[in-house]
Amino acid sequence: MCSIIGIIGKNLVAPELVDSLRRMEYRGYDSVGLATLSINKISVRKGIGNVSQVNKSLSLAEMEGFVGIGHTRWATHGGVTDYNAHPHSCCTNDIAVVHNGIVENYLPLKDELSKKGHRFKSETDTEVIAHLLEEHYNANKDIKAAIIETVKRIEGSFAFVAMFANGSLACARLDEPLVIGISDNAFYASSDVLGFLKYTDQAMFLDNRDIAILDKHGINIFTFDGDSTARGVTKVAWELADVNKGEFAHYTIKEIFEQRTSIKAATYQEEYKIKAFCDAIASAGNIIVTGSGSSYHTSLIMSMIGSRLLKKRFDPVMASEFKYNNDSIDKDTVLIAISQSGETADVLSATKLAKALGAKILSIVNVPTSSLARTADASLGINCGPEIGVAATKSFTGQVSLAYAILDRMSGGKIGFDREVVSDRITKMLADSTGIERLVNITMPKVNDIYLLGRSIHFPIVLEGALKMKELAYVHAEGIAAGELKHGPLALMDKNAVVFVLNPDDKTYGDTLSSAYEVKARGAKIIGISNVPNEIYDAMIPIPRMENELLYPLVEIVPLQLFSYYLALQHNADQDFPRNLAKSVTVR
Ligand code: BG6
Repeated sequence: MCSIIGIIGKNLVAPELVDSLRRMEYRGYDSVGLATLSINKISVRKGIGNVSQVNKSLSLAEMEGFVGIGHTRWATHGGVTDYNAHPHSCCTNDIAVVHNGIVENYLPLKDELSKKGHRFKSETDTEVIAHLLEEHYNANKDIKAAIIETVKRIEGSFAFVAMFANGSLACARLDEPLVIGISDNAFYASSDVLGFLKYTDQAMFLDNRDIAILDKHGINIFTFDGDSTARGVTKVAWELADVNKGEFAHYTIKEIFEQRTSIKAATYQEEYKIKAFCDAIASAGNIIVTGSGSSYHTSLIMSMIGSRLLKKRFDPVMASEFKYNNDSIDKDTVLIAISQSGETADVLSATKLAKALGAKILSIVNVPTSSLARTADASLGINCGPEIGVAATKSFTGQVSLAYAILDRMSGGKIGFDREVVSDRITKMLADSTGIERLVNITMPKVNDIYLLGRSIHFPIVLEGALKMKELAYVHAEGIAAGELKHGPLALMDKNAVVFVLNPDDKTYGDTLSSAYEVKARGAKIIGISNVPNEIYDAMIPIPRMENELLYPLVEIVPLQLFSYYLALQHNADQDFPRNLAKSVTVR
């Protein structure tokens, strides 16, 4: 996904555009660009790199003008080059566009427009929007008509902001987020409330198929069919302070340490809301739990515990696989969709599909104003505040904590999740983070292959731990169900392999220990994550003993997050904005 921002202000807008992009940089950071309007002339500056780098090399914040647009890119169509960076302009440069999403039919449109004499300067899908607007605007100099004709022609998911030389900003959204910000000094059109939260907490969320035209006199909203409409103004709950690093070097390590409190915050729910959520699950014929990335790993944990405690089948389905696996869905189905951002395209299309098949949609999100929260029948927030680090950390444990709270409530307390006790234990583990840093520096130089073994409720955590190592340190890491070792993965084991064994003293202990012996016999180095020392481990990361084995995921993942973070430091990887990734993928 990319981040887009447009501002019409009483002050010069370039410094604010740069600042807004910096706060939304987690959405994409391959290239950056601005366009501003000064004396009816649009100037564009854009280049490869992150916001700080491009702002430094091109002095973006010094650009002139009281109207402007900006963009950070996560490349999908066209390589990471200066000419593929946004904004993209039309032939006369009187219209400039920034866009998030994909124009799926851009090639035939490009061909059609080229035949009409339009000259294209990039390989992107986005540039067709600028030329389509130009084509229709030239017909009768009517911005409203031009944008309505343009959205009629483009297929796919999109949110874009177009700046016209007359000082208007015209924007539209279809399946990509776009929110208007209103302050005394400016109007904002942004991918995310973080784009303008420093200046105002007054937000107007555009619905799907909405168009908004902003100029210095005001904001007009209408639908793709041209019907005028109005959208309410919401006060955004988040505090800007939440998106500062404080004394931490990176957002990711800050967010790992925030888990001391965020796992508790996730369980603070309004009674009527969590009651409605649990009642819907209780009355469901069948339950499917879906998500992507770390949120899918939460889906696995929730499904395992739900099926075990409620004697009701919970089916975990990866959101990207949902469209191939939805035969069992009907009006008695409840789909629990889990997503930090609430904007992940695969999750949104899964809910759309399930809804069309009659299912009830329950969502667990971190962004309460997200598309998923607003389209679900009932939604619970995990209240962990903005998560900027691209690799999910506090949002994952927040989701798991809320799943515990829901299932504990429905099972009459069979998990025994005491948030104070767990928070206290996580706090103690975080206090020894330097021990994990030392372990990384001793064991990991020159290691390229990492394996994580676990059984039962520990299996989703070996998957999540492996994901953290891939995302943060760019290391090949694989989570393996320990019982599957002999059926193939054992062939990978040799003296170069490092194997984490998730092995607290619960009913999996003995079986997992024999797996440890099997890999040890092939020369692998073993790191035990357990509450019981054992000489088989070359190194051990101690975790507290938990009263109920179902609670181990929360204390097992924290040392793996820390390990991945310190490994990323050792590898000089970008801990917050890993290469090729984005905070949530809003394109399919
Ligand atoms: C990826 C993020 O883009 O999306 C992962 O890098 C995340 O960290 C995944 O787990 C799913 O995102 P979300 O917002 O739907 O939970």
